[in-house]
Amino acid sequence: MTVDTRERHPTGEMLPHVLEMRRISKQFPGVRALDNVTLHVRRGHIHALLGENGAGKSTLMKILDGVYPAGTFGGEIILAGIPIELHSPHDAQRKGIGYVPQEINVLQGLTVAENIFVGHWVDRGFLVTFRDLFARASQFLKQINIDLDPHRLVSSLNASERQLVMIARAMSTRPSVLILDESTACLTQDEADNLFRILRLLQQQGVTSLFITHKLSEVFELADRATVMRDGAVVAHFDRNQLNENDIVSAMIGRKIENFYPSRDSTVGHEEVLRVENLTVCRIDGLTNSLAAKACPAVAPFHCLVRAGRSTRGDGGAANRPRLERDIDLDGRVAATVEDLAGMNICDGGHGAPDAASRQGCLIL
Ligand SMILES: Nc1ncnc2c1ncn2[C@@H]1O[C@H](COP(=O)(O)OP(=O)(O)O)[C@@H](O)[C@H]1O
Ligand SMILES: [Mg+2]
Repeated sequence: MTVDTRERHPTGEMLPHVLEMRRISKQFPGVRALDNVTLHVRRGHIHALLGENGAGKSTLMKILDGVYPAGTFGGEIILAGIPIELHSPHDAQRKGIGYVPQEINVLQGLTVAENIFVGHWVDRGFLVTFRDLFARASQFLKQINIDLDPHRLVSSLNASERQLVMIARAMSTRPSVLILDESTACLTQDEADNLFRILRLLQQQGVTSLFITHKLSEVFELADRATVMRDGAVVAHFDRNQLNENDIVSAMIGRKIENFYPSRDSTVGHEEVLRVENLTVCRIDGLTNSLAAKACPAVAPFHCLVRAGRSTRGDGGAANRPRLERDIDLDGRVAATVEDLAGMNICDGGHGAPDAASRQGCLIL
């Protein structure tokens, strides 16, 4: 059975949607993560999915990737006009869906090449040789302009390099719909720019991309359309010519932008609770700052991705990491590692840093 998923374009032309998610609902114990969500995505579009943390974006994408299989959610998925049931990520992959999850998900003990082609080590019934695997990986990485040595062990890569491995893995299956869940959060500007170039190239080949980001500049740069979610529901759609920051942020937070910072009867304390010295932040060396009690971290100059890797590419080894034990001092206690900071709820994911990403060497202050 096929379903008419076309939409009338302003020119009067009827354009098909490559993907429709209809009336999707998903319940976790005690949480209604998605409530009757409907999403239309047009073929060849770069479609941004926006919303505050907890809005339901990743859950929706995990349904589309078969992570939450058919039967564990309500609603239907229609791909290229055909209703589909997905039972696993492998199933989704076979149907042309590529997913780069928010959580870093790599096989540490294997090489870059093995990680990219994981699950595809057999060719016409024969195990591919390592030589073939590395040659294929090398050629593919060159094609997508990702500068990584296929022989390197993934355990020696820093967070952005691991993210690049996951992106390459999703692209290697040549998906018709590519999902990127906060993939640029750990990337440098150059790496993100390269990713955008690739997305535009894929777009010219008819590939549809769904990307989740907290960076509105990326939405303005790339998106043909944006959908905003809040509290498990879709609250707004914007076509490219309607994109504007005030409306997007108002939709995300559910109130007018003038009320973004509601008046509160609070005072900012003077007692220092966090000191950061000589930390490498987004490849800027030597950042130093401190926060007073109740000060909003968002206004601190280091409201930015903090990388626990070295500032120079390729030096991801532990020996080269900044000495956090002397650099970050939280509330009088000494934080020895990034994990300690996570334990102190500094990088608990609440400000856009996924838990796993913080464990893998990123945190957001
Ligand atoms: N595996 C899970 N178990 C229980 N609750 C979950 C799970 N995954 C997500 N949630 C909850 O569902 C809601 C939506 O989460 P999520 O889809 O991760 O949002 P977003 O990606 O927009 O930040 C949140 O309230 C989150 O806490
Ligand atoms: Mg998410």
